[in-house]
Amino acid sequence: MTATADPNELKGEDWAGEMGRKWLTHIDLFEGMIAPIGDALLARAGIAQGERVIDLGCGGGLTSLAAARATGPEGAVLGLDISPDLIDEARRRATDHPNVSFICADAATVALDDAPYDRLISRFGSMFFADPYAAFTNLHGLIRSGGRIDLAIWAAPRDNPWMMELMGVARSHIDIPSPDPRAPGPFAFADLDYVRDILAHAGFSAPDIEPYQGEQAIGGPGATPDEAADFALASMAIGRALAEAGADTLARAHSDLVSLFGQRHVPGKGVMMANKVWLLSARA
Ligand SMILES: C[S@@+](CC[C@H](N)C(=O)[O-])C[C@H]1O[C@@H](n2cnc3c(N)ncnc32)[C@H](O)[C@@H]1O
Repeated sequence: MTATADPNELKGEDWAGEMGRKWLTHIDLFEGMIAPIGDALLARAGIAQGERVIDLGCGGGLTSLAAARATGPEGAVLGLDISPDLIDEARRRATDHPNVSFICADAATVALDDAPYDRLISRFGSMFFADPYAAFTNLHGLIRSGGRIDLAIWAAPRDNPWMMELMGVARSHIDIPSPDPRAPGPFAFADLDYVRDILAHAGFSAPDIEPYQGEQAIGGPGATPDEAADFALASMAIGRALAEAGADTLARAHSDLVSLFGQRHVPGKGVMMANKVWLLSARA
């Protein structure tokens, strides 16, 4: 152990600023890692022609574009994100899609003149609210009565070896205090009783939750162990904490990650590590 990381350093919640820019810098790799989860989310949602859909925390807007293919030109998709950098990228990608638009706003408080919408989807964009009870109450007001929401949320870190094994490497070099499991961040909704309580409080009913389990390519499909280690340290919060512990610590962690990823490397596919996600739907 050479240093203690500030747990706030590991949350990576500054989506309106640094975290949004980081996601943009590595956007193809992030999106490549979670593409199968977006496909599963949209298949389960079963969006119909003509529906009007909100994509919550849309990032670079790939799921917004996929949803717009389901609604067809009679429907419309609004991508909503707090990061101005990601909204710029989403708009750039959607220039030829007249039924897709984007707005940069905090979903916790945004008011939409053209609400209510029929649907809301979100791939990993719903777990970052400081007050999720208030935020989901606001979201409930944006969906018509009986309209459906579909969320992809991470299951617990212990069920996500890609995160546990990365953290294991980081923790062998720096001391990382365990965060509050409900603190805003990727794993804030791992406790399904907590999520059900938030949804019920906000006015949603009939929650239906199914597990998704698969493998994700760290650093995107086809990455080598070295490329995957570069990606993990450059894009994830543990990278910054390790860098702050000094160049030697960072280099040793990089070397350990390359060894770990070498064991998980599948030629032609990349560094494949198991994941677990909850696909959740409910009615407004
Ligand atoms: C893990 S990224 C997922 C991006 C995108 N859904 C995807 O799957 O490619 C989380 C997204 O949620 C957005 N986000 C976080 N808090 C938000 C908020 N309060 N309001 C709107 N968007 C938010 C972030 O800016 C980021 O784009």
